[in-house]
Amino acid sequence: MTKPIRIAPSILSADFSRLGEEIRAIDAGGADYIHVDVMDGHFVPNITIGPLIVKAIRPLTKKTIDVHLMIAPADPFLAAFAEAGADSITVHAEAGPHLHRSLQAIRAEGKRAGVAINPATPVSAIRHVIDIVDLVLVMSVNPGFGGQAFIPDALTKLAEARDLIGGRDIDLEVDGGVSVDNARALAAAGANLFVAGTSVFAGNDPKTYASRISAIRNAAKTITA
Ligand code: DX5
Ligand code: ZN
Repeated sequence: MTKPIRIAPSILSADFSRLGEEIRAIDAGGADYIHVDVMDGHFVPNITIGPLIVKAIRPLTKKTIDVHLMIAPADPFLAAFAEAGADSITVHAEAGPHLHRSLQAIRAEGKRAGVAINPATPVSAIRHVIDIVDLVLVMSVNPGFGGQAFIPDALTKLAEARDLIGGRDIDLEVDGGVSVDNARALAAAGANLFVAGTSVFAGNDPKTYASRISAIRNAAKTITA
């Protein structure tokens, strides 16, 4: 099943001193999902935000809030993110020994369950959970920071993940170094959901967001996967 092309600006690159305005600007600018990067200084070498911020931005947008948990353990915090208003919660395959349980727990909260894999993790790591996920996230940088260089091997992994997904109704998301320059190749490899931090927010000028979002979308749409 081919899912629509969707753009998910990552608020990691937003101006946090005026986060509400930034959320409204990407919403008005055509963002499909709002990507929220949660980091714990343990699973990844950076600390960002938690459920309080998800709760604070929830009233500002009707768009899907796509929470990317780069935390270990994740399970103790799933309910808090669900209650804060996340629509989709993604855990890393590397974050704990009981990935299947984590995904079941997300669905038990009534949320869309996502699984992410780091650049060094093979697609085969998620083969046995593919029937209990709504989203597969292939990392195209090592998670922890915005603005890193895209790792080209992600293209191979996206194609493998697309094969694994087959006819299932699952979003295939790519995160890290996504730009107008590689969106076409990413779509050709099978991605339909594009996280974009720097390539949307660089300069933090809300007047630029709509055109940047549509440029990535249009580049991705130049192929029909
Ligand atoms: C990286 C995060 C990404 C990040 C992407 O750890 O998961 O979502 O914000 O930023 P860019 O698009 O700048 O690579
Ligand atoms: Zn992310």
